[in-house]
Order: sequence, then C-alpha cells, then structure tokens
Amino acid sequence: MANDEENVGNVKKLLARVFELSLQATVPDETDVEPIVTASTVGRFGDYQCNNAMGLFSKLKGKGGGQFRGPPAVGQAIMKNLPQTEMIESCFVAGPGFVNVVLSNKWMAKSILKMLLDGIDTWAPKLSIKRAVVDFSSPNIAKEMHVGHLRSTIIGDTIARMLEFSHVDVLRRNHVGDWGTQFGMLIEHLFEKFPNIEAVNETAIGDLQAFYKASKQRFDDDSEFKERAQKAVVRLQGGEKRYRDAWAQICAISRREFDSVYKRLKVELEEKGESFYNPFIPSVIEGLTNQGLVEESEGARVIFLEGFNIPLIVVKSDGGYNYASTDLTALWYRLNEEKAEWIIYVTDVGQQQHFEMVFKAAKIAGWLPTEANKYPRTSHVGFGLVLGEDGKRFRTRSTEVVRLVDLLDEAKSRSKAVLEEREKDKDWTKEEIDQTAEAVGYGAVKYADLKNNRLTNYTFNFDQMLSDKGNTAVYLLYAHARICSIIRKSGKDVEELKKTGVLSLEHQDERVLGLHLLRFSEIVEEACTNLLPNILCEYLYNLSENFSKFYSNCQVIGSAEETSRLLLCEATAMVMRKCFFLLGITPVYKI
Ligand code: ARG
Repeated sequence: MANDEENVGNVKKLLARVFELSLQATVPDETDVEPIVTASTVGRFGDYQCNNAMGLFSKLKGKGGGQFRGPPAVGQAIMKNLPQTEMIESCFVAGPGFVNVVLSNKWMAKSILKMLLDGIDTWAPKLSIKRAVVDFSSPNIAKEMHVGHLRSTIIGDTIARMLEFSHVDVLRRNHVGDWGTQFGMLIEHLFEKFPNIEAVNETAIGDLQAFYKASKQRFDDDSEFKERAQKAVVRLQGGEKRYRDAWAQICAISRREFDSVYKRLKVELEEKGESFYNPFIPSVIEGLTNQGLVEESEGARVIFLEGFNIPLIVVKSDGGYNYASTDLTALWYRLNEEKAEWIIYVTDVGQQQHFEMVFKAAKIAGWLPTEANKYPRTSHVGFGLVLGEDGKRFRTRSTEVVRLVDLLDEAKSRSKAVLEEREKDKDWTKEEIDQTAEAVGYGAVKYADLKNNRLTNYTFNFDQMLSDKGNTAVYLLYAHARICSIIRKSGKDVEELKKTGVLSLEHQDERVLGLHLLRFSEIVEEACTNLLPNILCEYLYNLSENFSKFYSNCQVIGSAEETSRLLLCEATAMVMRKCFFLLGITPVYKI
C-alpha cells in the first residue's frame, strides 16, 4: 500500500484506500462498506479520522451479528487490521470508535518534496467525468452587462479552471441572449436611423444601451413602428438577408463590448448564443410531444411538472419559442451532440426555478438519470446580489447601472495610486507598475466575489477589497511576494535545492504548514465537486496564515534548517500560485 507511485494527490483518498483494506479484513462478509475518512478539525484527534465504526456497529447489530461489544470495539478492530503503510505514524481510537490517524512526518516531507520535483499538477484531483459544459457570463445583446454577469463570469471561470485542472475537458459556453422579439424593434430602429446600414459601426451607434432604450421608446409610443418591428422579427426568423445582416451587426457591436471585459479579466469563453440552438428547437419539442409530455394550455404548449405550481411553457401562445424552449434544446444538444456529462449553469439565484423546471423536464424525458448524483447531470450554480454601500442593488451615483469596464478601471487605478504612494516608481519600470496594479486591482475584485459563499449577497466596497489587511487578494498577493523575496534573499538556487536537499517537518509550525499543503488536492476536489469556490479561498487564506506563523517562529535564512525551510517556502509559494491560478488571479513576485 501507499508505495511511491501513490504518494501523490489526495491524502484523504489515499487513507480511504488503506481503511478499505482494513474494513475488508474486519468485516469480510460486508461487501459494500465505503470507508468514511475526514480531516480532523481538532488537533488532538490526529490529522485524519475514519468514522465507520458507529455505522458499522448498528448495521451488524441490525443483522443480529454480535461479534463486537460496541462501536469502540469495532474501531479497535479497524485499527488493528490496518495494513502496514509508511503514511501513518500512529493511530488511536477515541470516543465512540473514531480511528484517529497521525500522519508520518517523514512521509509528509517526502510527499511535499516529490511535489516540488514533479510539479503541482501531480496533485490535481481525479474526477470520474471526461467532459463538462460550464454555461457562464451569458449577457444579453444590446443590453448592459451588469454586475450580475460579472459575478457569473468570475465564478464560472473559476469553476471551469478547477475542472480543467482536474483533467476535465471543459466547454466554456457563453449563452448570450442574442435572439428574441426585442430584435424586431432594434432592427427597425437601426433601419430608421441608418438608411445605409453598411456604414453603421460602433461609433455611429454610440451607446448600444441608449440605442436599446430609444428603440423601446419608439416601440411603446408608435403603433405603426410596433407593427413593423413585429414583422421584422418574422422576417429575421425567416432568414431574410437584410434582417440577418442588421441582426449580426448589432450582435457584433455588443460582442466587442463584452470582449473588452473578458480580455481584462483574462477569461476565455466560447460563444454559442441562444440563436445557435434555434434550428434544433422544433425537433426537440416534437420529441417531447411524441413522448406525451407536452400539453395544450391556454393556447400555449406546456409541460406540467410535479412539485411546481406553474407549467414549463415550451411554445408560446403565438407559436414562438422562449427562454425555456431554448434551454431545453441547449441541454439536449449538450448531452447528445457535445456528449457532456456534467452541465453547469452559473446565474443569479433568481433563475433557480427556471433551471429546476428544465432539469426536471429532462429527467422525465429520460435524458438524465433521476438519481441526484449520477452522471450525466446538471447543476445550477446560483449566486446572490451585489450590493452597494447602501445595502441596495449596486448602482453608481447617477442610479445608472455600473459599467463593468469603469469598475475594473477604478480597481486598477486605485491600486496603482497605492504603488505610487509607496514610491515604487523609483525602482520599478512603468510596465511593472502597470502589471502589478492590474494584477492587484482585478485580483481584488475577483477575490472579493469568490471568497463569500456564492449564495449570499455581497457588498461591493473598493476600500475593503483593496485593503492589505484581512482576507483580501491584496494581502494574499503580498504574502506570496514576500515568500518569493525570502527565497531571493537567501541567494540559493531552489531548483538545485529541490534535487539535492532534504525536507523535514520537525518544528510544530513546520508540520502544521506541511499538513495544510498536503490538503490542497482534497480541497480543490471539494470546491470543485460542490461548486463552491469559497472553499478554495478559505484554504488559501489559511495557508497564508499558517505560513506567517511558521515564518515568525522558525528562522529560515542562516538557520541550520535553512535548506529544508527554503523548500517549504517554495512549496507554499507553488501551492499559493496554483490557488491564484484557479481563482483567475495573476500572482505578483515582488512588492
Ligand atoms: N442571458 C441570461 C441572463 O442574462 C443568462 C443565460 C444563462 N444561461 C442559460 N443557459 N439560460 O440572465
């Protein structure tokens, strides 16, 4: 067990395998006992514990089998039957049969050194799926991309990054709202304002949101315009060239605006907007109809779903399709054409019911298994609102929605001002100042969003997120830069040390830090499978805290343990950088 090849990755899983062998030996007749291994939260209960004894005891008792006097005896037996492994230093049974494990210092040190040599990718979680779709960001054409879309972009990107790190092929989908009746009025308004539409470009239209508002005004005020707009929708859907071209032009202008945000945030997305699924809708609805799932109701065609007091409308009473028809079809496409096993939707919690209904319909149709955790599966990743200082939905003073690019600009310029205040411009190049300001500014915006449980609302506050104290990206980025500077100051070549040096975890604070490093893999797996980036943020923050404690109590440079401690510094920096990477934050190396 736990030979060299297995000294990688998820410690919890490695231990689970050891306990599995012990359980087989303890209760050979029970074939379906899954080992339950968790990290201990309290130090005196060791590093990890196996919690099978109680459940197993009641199970045996239920069957009339009485070879054990109580759960502690089961725990003792599990402990006794543990195979020999270099991972474990010692074990003891506590309370009602918990088997507590103390990891071996030597094994821990060896595993960390191995990661230093082989790279942190060897600590990547292994998931059971090959391909996932992450549907995120997904703003609407000609409407503003608001802070809700910013949240979706940031959270979705992190989820995609964690899955990609775990060797899942991720289709990063931008499901933009590029279809629907609003295009009729937009196109007609475009024709009115620009009779020669070839000449239309971004600068001519100016602000697309104002353009949207103006066309809405025309639509509401002028019944003749309204009629023309409604006809335009039909002509667009019929594929008439002039209308398709105008539509494409409007989309292109919006797209440029969206792309400027993605570029700044360094987020990759592949657009497959609502319009993409349009040609597939009729056959998908027909399929559902043939299965007897679709019914007539008040002129519309709907699917009634148990547990919901409204039906899912799949064809509107005017014969048109809607948001739900598109989402059902997109789901069908992702399952059948793209062969995705896990399809993840990142939107505000307000859309939860919509997705629950779509997922339920897909289950009744037999597209998805009914068991919750079986693949293929779908998940809605909901998030709360972004609030302003006043506790209300985040807006600027003018009560207009906040433009995302302005927001990012401000984050950057504020962090730049701090760098200049610290007179960094004296010894840094202009590029260095700029890149650091960007990494810190954008990192701060991302981290402030990701560190909260996504379901809670969070308050957008520049002063707070850009503070260098507390749980902020600034604090964490500086902590990382400080570690890099310790290594630089030592004057040692870490690459050389990795090959020749020895790592040991003798001091209590070295051991705590080492254990935390070793938990990286299981934490990423937990954050990823539960779709909760805040778990990773918390891990990163605690890593930095553990490092501070180590650094204040253990002298690094000039000490007898210098080599080992420099290696521990390097391992911490490596894990921190991977956390930053997964959170979409660019690390900085000097402060
Ligand atoms: N465009 C939608 C909005 O702005 C979000 C789309 C989310 N994805 C989806 N497949 N429905 O609210």
